[in-house]
Amino acid sequence: MPVEFNLPAADSDAHADAVLATADRLLAWYHHAARTLPWRSPPGSVERPDPYRVWLSEVMLQQTTVAAVRPYFERFTQRWPTVVALAAAPQDDVLAAWAGLGYYSRARNLIACAQQIVTAYGGEFPADLARLRALPGIGDYTAAAIAAIAFGADAVPVDANIERVVARLFAIETPLPRARLAIRDAARLIWPAAERGGDFAQALMDLGSRMCTSRNPACGSCPISAGCAAYHRGIAEQLPVKAARKIRPERYGRAYWIERDDAVWLVRRPPRGLLGGMRALPGPDWIDTPDTRVDAGQSCGSVRHIFTHFALTLSVVRDDATASVVRADDGEWWPIATLDAAGLPTLYQRAAALILAQA
Ligand code: ADE
Repeated sequence: MPVEFNLPAADSDAHADAVLATADRLLAWYHHAARTLPWRSPPGSVERPDPYRVWLSEVMLQQTTVAAVRPYFERFTQRWPTVVALAAAPQDDVLAAWAGLGYYSRARNLIACAQQIVTAYGGEFPADLARLRALPGIGDYTAAAIAAIAFGADAVPVDANIERVVARLFAIETPLPRARLAIRDAARLIWPAAERGGDFAQALMDLGSRMCTSRNPACGSCPISAGCAAYHRGIAEQLPVKAARKIRPERYGRAYWIERDDAVWLVRRPPRGLLGGMRALPGPDWIDTPDTRVDAGQSCGSVRHIFTHFALTLSVVRDDATASVVRADDGEWWPIATLDAAGLPTLYQRAAALILAQA
């Protein structure tokens, strides 16, 4: 008879055995099915992956998919093969290489973190959770992931994939985010000894991204469905339950394309805040109501960009007539032919593409 486990913690030997069998089965599956990824060591290998590569991949993966991260990861590690090399890189180069990965504050934290590892730790990543957690840009999840994967420490990283798999294994029906503590406690029940913890975390991640997917989970081919309470109750796809989403507010902005002699006028965004310190097309502050101001320039359409906390509609206006009044201390003329090298955030790259498609 299939064994279900449910919270609270294992209260019988049979239950404990079932939990351990699930953990073993998952590791056995990972042994042959693990994705080969450039920041990983092969499953079961005694050699741990380079903490620099683990850290870099985890920071990149915070906001996007493995497929999107791969080329960025390869480029970064070719150009800056060590944390010491990254710490010495000019900020603009790193931000430009980051363009397209989103949230430049993460790239700025990346540099600050690399520099702190050089100054405080002589270029070697600290191995313990508390020291990792204190570094710029490293939160609870990332610290636990680095500690477990790169150092074999006794740490339990829980990302969205792991959260989903564990919520299903234990049929945790409390809605997220309230369920987080229960999910973490449940994960600890199946977590193996520290030296296998890194593989175990990545096995859960792989299972979550390939089989135990949000929609249409492939329970029929899942290596641990026998121990999955949600599978036995036929509710896998409904879990984890998410609290109703708040509606994302709308914001509105305007970007001016001012061109002269095959160059476009670029400014820097203020150092703090969203896209802080990045190059951008000039324009007024973004506002909360549709922008009805009439411009002298020629409207060229708009781009819509989804940020975590709001959606932005950016109207793009061609206004070459103002070329004579731009203030030299405020920005720079950038040759249009090399606009790719300006490190524009995706939002402004898309605005520029809109203009250039109409040229
Ligand atoms: N997502 C976050 N970290 C990951 C890892 N180490 N492998 C695969 N996907 C991940």
